[in-house]
Amino acid sequence: MTPAAVPAIGYSQLVERIKHGDGMAHVPLEGSWELTYRCNLACTHCWVNLPAGDRRARQRELTGDEIDRIAGEIVDAGGLWLLLTGGEIFLRPDFLDIYRRLKRRGLLLTLYTNGTMITERTADLLAEYPPSLVEISLYGITPGTYAAVTEVPALERCLRGIRLLRDRDVKIRLKSVVTTANYDEFLDIAAWVKREFGLRFRYDPNINFRKIEGREGTAPARVRVPASQVVALDQALDAETDDLRGTYQDMVDKARQGIDIRRGSGYVFDCGAGLNAYHIDPYGRLTSCMMVPSIGYDLREGSFREGWDSFLERVVYLKKTRTTRCDSCAISGNCTGCPGWSLLEHGDLEEPVDYVCDVNHGRAQAFGAGELISTIRMKGAPVHG
Ligand SMILES: C[S@@+](CC[C@H](N)C(=O)[O-])C[C@H]1O[C@@H](n2cnc3c(N)ncnc32)[C@H](O)[C@@H]1O
Ligand code: SF4
Ligand code: SF4
Repeated sequence: MTPAAVPAIGYSQLVERIKHGDGMAHVPLEGSWELTYRCNLACTHCWVNLPAGDRRARQRELTGDEIDRIAGEIVDAGGLWLLLTGGEIFLRPDFLDIYRRLKRRGLLLTLYTNGTMITERTADLLAEYPPSLVEISLYGITPGTYAAVTEVPALERCLRGIRLLRDRDVKIRLKSVVTTANYDEFLDIAAWVKREFGLRFRYDPNINFRKIEGREGTAPARVRVPASQVVALDQALDAETDDLRGTYQDMVDKARQGIDIRRGSGYVFDCGAGLNAYHIDPYGRLTSCMMVPSIGYDLREGSFREGWDSFLERVVYLKKTRTTRCDSCAISGNCTGCPGWSLLEHGDLEEPVDYVCDVNHGRAQAFGAGELISTIRMKGAPVHG
């Protein structure tokens, strides 16, 4: 008898099925975990960094055993993808041990790092037990610009870390945040990444306010680049691929066909936070999202399952309390604003954030979707600006 053929599907299709196959299943499929807020660099835009030698912070951090115990509970609850970030993860002397234990739990790991503390030993271990991806921030491509962003002259160390991983075929992606300190060099950074790796790199102009308890504040916003300059950069970097232009053109096409392209629902969170996604801070506070520190659960006091279950009422079913201009916005599908942004910027989960709004409007105008800005209105909603 011929065995029945097993249908083969690609990895991205599989991921799509896992994430969306069972619409509303409350499973913590993907998470992020800040292992420390301490960092060896001191980026002017940073929302979370504490000095590397901050002893109080270090003492409060979860231990390797605590992390391993929580990771076991996450896996039991259905966890699969996990992002490890900071601060700087490689600043923890026990990082490689933690990494090995999380790998043993079967989690699919992505690492965020500034790359400057990657040694041969680290690179060898990552080559032997590969993560899904290592994303390295490259804040400049000349020593002066790099140090202007990070306040530490560490460009060479960063490039060394990148090369150590690349030489061992560890999968990496380079990225950067656009700030007033590296704006003039940004096209050169992109060109360098393309020359060295044949890749474009991910960049983000969106800079949030600081979130660390007791040290919240607007300081990072001082290095935000004005929206018009962000859009000029987008146009230069998108010219070859038209990726960003394509997303706006799709919206125009759909709107012309009469399809309602507005994002959103009656719920505050429509992004999967608390439904399929979670976050853990260095001290064991479980939240639904990295940007929403105010709705949390202490994993030193109870189990992951208890905290996760509490998010159904506290996050997932949270209804909007009012109408804002976002409800009538026809370009909301491309907006990077979200309840987390609103909370950090205004202390309110629903208040629109002017900066992301300006960037999205500028992009819509620049990429041929200006006609959408004033076409769709929701009855009774405030007029979209
Ligand atoms: C907090 S860092 C942690 C990992 C590592 N230290 C690094 O720099 O990549 C993670 C990412 O967040 C970015 N980031 C830092 N402060 C930010 C802010 N205020 N708004 C948006 N992104 C920020 C960093 O530039 C980096 O790309
Ligand atoms: S390297 Fe990362 S964590 Fe450190 S200060 Fe810069 S952005 Fe923040
Ligand atoms: S572009 Fe402005 S109005 Fe539209 S969704 Fe974003 S913040 Fe809201």
